Amino acid sequence: MTAVTVTPGSPLIGRLRVPGDKSVSHRALLLAARAEGTSELRGLSTGDDVARTARAVAAMGADVAVGPGATHVTGGPARLREPDAPLDLGNSGTGMRLLAGYVAAFPWFTVLYGDEYLARRPMDRVAQPLRLMGATVDGREGGRLPPLAIRGGALRGIDYTLPVASAQVKGAVLLAALGADGPTTVREDVPVRAHTEELLRIAGAEVGTSAGGSVVTVRPGPLRAFELDVPGDPSQAAFWLVAACIVPGSDVTVEHVYVGRARAAFIDVLRRMGADIEVSMVSATDADVRARASALHATDVGGAEVPSLIDEIPVLAVAAAFADGVTTFADAAELAVKETDRIAATTQMLAAFGARAEGRPDGLTVAGGGPLHGAVIDSGGDHRIAMAGAISALNATGPTTVRGWDAVQTSYPGFLDDLARLQR
Ligand code: S3P
Repeated sequence: MTAVTVTPGSPLIGRLRVPGDKSVSHRALLLAARAEGTSELRGLSTGDDVARTARAVAAMGADVAVGPGATHVTGGPARLREPDAPLDLGNSGTGMRLLAGYVAAFPWFTVLYGDEYLARRPMDRVAQPLRLMGATVDGREGGRLPPLAIRGGALRGIDYTLPVASAQVKGAVLLAALGADGPTTVREDVPVRAHTEELLRIAGAEVGTSAGGSVVTVRPGPLRAFELDVPGDPSQAAFWLVAACIVPGSDVTVEHVYVGRARAAFIDVLRRMGADIEVSMVSATDADVRARASALHATDVGGAEVPSLIDEIPVLAVAAAFADGVTTFADAAELAVKETDRIAATTQMLAAFGARAEGRPDGLTVAGGGPLHGAVIDSGGDHRIAMAGAISALNATGPTTVRGWDAVQTSYPGFLDDLARLQR
């Protein structure tokens, strides 16, 4: 495992683009592979997670040509076939759950597996609705844990209310819906990201939404090739925007960030904390977001906003460690089943810097205000813990070593280059 050293000091100044949104990138590849013709996808996420999904669709017969400016995917039902070997999704929970639904739409036998971290993540949340649709899903512990073995085809449409607020589950069901015998409806009690339905529409699927987007109906039918500029990933932008808030003298603008449904609640939280942050819309869903060094104060995070910022909690907890007062993160038990147990990993990471952070079953409490010292921390195999630790290090006294930095390859291989650019 590689270690990196992060040294505090200079303010972060400048404009940058972060990698293309990871959630959008997975879905764009999957839908392009199912669409008749050649799709052009510009600005896909550069991480290993999305590369695995690209390899998976290639193993199913799509032609994936990765070029310097764009990835071209030639797909369509006539090309797609049962993969002849198990598909390795690496560290990617999104890849595995979306693919589970995707392959269930076809009369294939497919095996999905991943690394030691993915092997511990719950898959029953996708197995259950896919079984209701008629697929056979097996895995360790009766399909609760990977590897998953899926026999699909001849699915029926269902009307399904999400038992967990998960866009991955919604996505899996809506992708399976493309191969069902009639319409499928997914209902959510709490808003979750809408990328699957947004991209299905772009690919020409029949998609209906109501109740402010909380009810989505997809009818089976062909998809057509599409062109897409993948927006910047708000979860990656969050690292730089928090960094700008906590490092004195900083002024950072992240360009073309997706701030659509259920993705930008971290900006509201930073605002509540007193952050100097400006959002300038550049399209219906994308914005340039500017943050400047700010005196932060504590807030309470919880309730319906949580799924809209779940991936940003580690770095918001870093912001809380530099804020005045005690910040709580509640209703976030899902954190415990991410790439690592992020309740434990975030509290341990902050404690190593000398911050007072305490885990609880549904989140954590962070007492801010005190100076943090440099530390030796470990990613525990989790990219977001590594990057949140690096951001914390920028305003600590003394250098910090982040062990297990390779985890960052899954989502943001260029993170340190972008940091160097902003520190110049
Ligand atoms: C994602 C949904 C979220 C998020 C993950 C990506 C997606 O997970 O944490 O990083 O692309 O649908 P859940 O669906 O488990 O909430």
